[in-house]
This record gives sequence, C-alpha cells and structure tokens, in this order.
Amino acid sequence: MQKIISLCKRRGFVFQSSEIYGGLEAIWDYGPLGVLLKNNLKNFWIKNFVQERKDVVLIDGSILMHPQVWKTSGHVENFTDPLVECKNCHSRFRADYMIDGKFIGQGMAKEANQCPVCGSKEFTQPRNFNLMFKTFFGPVEDQAHITYLRPETAQSMFTNFKLVLETSRMKLPFGIAQVGKAFRNEITTGNFIFRSREFEIAEIEYFVKPGDDEKIFEEWVDLWENFFIKLGLKKENLRRYEHPKESLAHYSKRTIDIEYKFPFGWSELAGIANRTDFDLSRHSQASGQDLTYFDEKERKKYFPYVIEPTLGVDRLFLAILCDSYEEIIGGRTKTTASTKEVETVLKLKPEIAPIKVAILPLLKNKPALVEKANEIYEDLKSHFFCQYDDVGSIGRRYRRFDEIGCPFAITVDFQTLEDNTVTLRDRDTMEQERVKTDNLLEILKQKINV
Ligand code: GAP
Repeated sequence: MQKIISLCKRRGFVFQSSEIYGGLEAIWDYGPLGVLLKNNLKNFWIKNFVQERKDVVLIDGSILMHPQVWKTSGHVENFTDPLVECKNCHSRFRADYMIDGKFIGQGMAKEANQCPVCGSKEFTQPRNFNLMFKTFFGPVEDQAHITYLRPETAQSMFTNFKLVLETSRMKLPFGIAQVGKAFRNEITTGNFIFRSREFEIAEIEYFVKPGDDEKIFEEWVDLWENFFIKLGLKKENLRRYEHPKESLAHYSKRTIDIEYKFPFGWSELAGIANRTDFDLSRHSQASGQDLTYFDEKERKKYFPYVIEPTLGVDRLFLAILCDSYEEIIGGRTKTTASTKEVETVLKLKPEIAPIKVAILPLLKNKPALVEKANEIYEDLKSHFFCQYDDVGSIGRRYRRFDEIGCPFAITVDFQTLEDNTVTLRDRDTMEQERVKTDNLLEILKQKINV
C-alpha cells in the first residue's frame, strides 16, 4: 500500500486535500494523471452499461435534494454506525470495529475491545451516529432548513423514475444509471482512498417486474463481476460475499458484495442489492405521487422491484492500481544502467491509461528530431492524450512512462529523417516495431481500441 500511495503522490495521481494546511482526513484530490484515469474508468463504465445497452439510460442528479427524500428513504433514521468513545484518550471508533478486533496490530491494540491509540479497554456505551453531512438550505440556519449532502446517488433515480419513464419511453425491465459524488461522515477512515468522506459511486437502479427480481439479481452479479475482469482486474483477486440477513441494509432483501484482495485484505469493492419496491412505494406514499408502472401486457399497475448494482469509483481506482502495479528488481533490460534499479510498470489496459502515447525525440539537441517529434505530437493530440518528453536518456524516459502505465512510446531517431519511420514501443513486451509515420494513427487506434 505504501508503494501505491507513494507512486500516487510522486507522479500526480492522488494528493491529500488541503495538504498545505496539514491535510483534511479522508478527503483526497485527484492530480493531473489521476483525474484522467478516473474519468477513463467512469467512461468505460458508461460505455459498457449505457452506450452498449438499449435498456439503460443515464442521469446526473443533484447532490442536494429535498430533505424529505432522506426521511422517506430511511437514511435519517437508519443510516448510522454505532460509535464509542475511549474513556481514557477520548478517541472515537466504530463499535463494531472494536468488537471485531479490526484494530489488532494497529497502534496499541493487541486484542479486540482495546483502544488502538492508548490501549485502554474502557469505552462509553455505543450510540448511533448518523453518517450524513448536514448543511443548511438558504440563508436561515435553523432546523427547518437542514438538508444533507447525498450519501448515495440512488435516491435521485427513484425520485426521477416517472420522469425518466415518460421522457425515454422505457418498458420494464430497464435501468437508470448514474455516476457521481456521495458524502459520508465516516467514523473510522483509512487505507488511503478506500474509505473517504467524499467519494464517487457508479450505480444502476434496474427496475423489474416483481417475481423476476431473484433471477435478474443473479444475472447482475455475473455482469458486475465480469465488468471488473474486462477492465483488467485479475479473477483470482475477486470474490463474492453474501450478506447474512442480520447485516442487510434497511432497504435490502438480498445483497452480495464483490470483494477485491487489497493489500490490506479482502474488502468490498462493489455490491448488488435487491431493494424490492421499498424506495418507490415509500416515495409514492410520502409525496402523494403515483410512482407505479402500468404493465400494458397484464393491464395492471404495480411498483417495480429494483435490482441495484453499485460500485465505488475510488475503490475501483485503487484496485486497478494495485492489480496493475509490478516491480522488477534489477530492471527488465540487461543492457543499460537501469539493471541495478527497481523498475516499476503499471500494466493498465490501454483504454484506461491516462496517457496513451509518449512522443520522444532521441536527442533534444538535434532540431530536426525535435521538429519531427513535435509534428507527430500535433497530429496525434486530438485523438489521444499524448505527452512529449525530451528530458534524459531514452531508457530513463521509457521507465518514466512505464511507471504511469503509458502503453505506447514513439521514438523519433535518425532513421526517421531518412525514411519517415519511427519506433513504436510496447510497454509490456518492450518490443519495438518500425512503422511509417503515415500509418501511426490507424495502428494506435487499433491498439488502444478507441
Ligand atoms: N446505493 C447503494 C449504496 O450506496 P453502498 O454499499 O453503501 O451502497 C456503494 O455504497 C459503494 O460505494 C460501495 O460498494 C463501496 O465501493 C463505495 N463506498 C462506500 N463507502 C465508501 C467510502 N467511505 N469511501 C469510498 N468508497 C465507499
């Protein structure tokens, strides 16, 4: 984990928010490379589940919603974690994490029920702590104007159900997809971007006929898991976890998590829940609006059931980095000075790599090479994120681009000036093929699959 965190900071993937003021716990900023990678993950998800399906449409709901939404959804009442306070040092923890012994091996915790900060075993009684961030709507800061930053994106897909149905003329089964920010005032944070207080969720509310829900639930578990494999995660690093009845969220009839083997252990990456008609029927009742679906075949109205595949975008980002990170002690080439170094390669799929193509003149003090390399950069820049780099030896530059997962490097050398060919290097095999500059765009389009 330390190596991933260090790479993220060193190469501009993730920074701690407000670092110049000492940082803000569990809040992160995505740097120049991180934002590209994260956007590529979100776009890959949208392409897979919206663009390539006839039965799913996308929305972008607001972060602030009518406060009644969170009362009706059950979040005001139930979206809580049990909080305890150490009587000795006053540190606060999630009670279930103390009992599970999740802190064993951290700080002074040697066994379950022990404060990891001071080692004391004296705690206050657990009290329910609501994880929603409160804020005020408008200039008056009183009880009547309290609202919340959304803790999940799902609710706007329920409140917009009828509008989406009418405007997009969908028939059951169909889904509404959304990717966006969510906020949770987590009691216990940690493990870098794994558990943050501000994060992104990508989820689908898939509306089905009651009775079809159990079968469609199973189908979505497979689809969800296969998506991660398609993105490049290794199958052996994924597993399923079925929630026992007593740990189900207040809205769920059945939930299966997809867990990833993070460096700190197996943990939730994504989930699939059967939310039944819990949300639509409650919103219908509370708002007085009819949120039923009219089934033309059966000539009757009913509340659809909802299958909800969800995933944490930041957790996916972390899993992708962990899964694609490789260190080669001594380096991969035996011909250069790098043989004594530890070489890092990020084996990202070309589709999601932040920078797709590195453009490198062999020498920076040869104007003809520089000019040609710049020409190639100008030709390719509107098709892919490219980076021009002329600093340091060619071997060093390859290493730098390998470390950020750039799948292809073009080198402009003296032969280029004679026959208009360049070398095209593959990050993973390190093979270099000589290609005509006129064919570069087509070759790269094919390889990058965009
Ligand atoms: N609408 C359902 C829902 O929000 P959830 O399991 O509470 O379900 C969805 O959250 C996903 O968001 C999780 O599968 C997880 O990957 C991610 N997630 C949850 N809490 C998080 C946090 N504090 N930081 C980062 N990601 C988080």
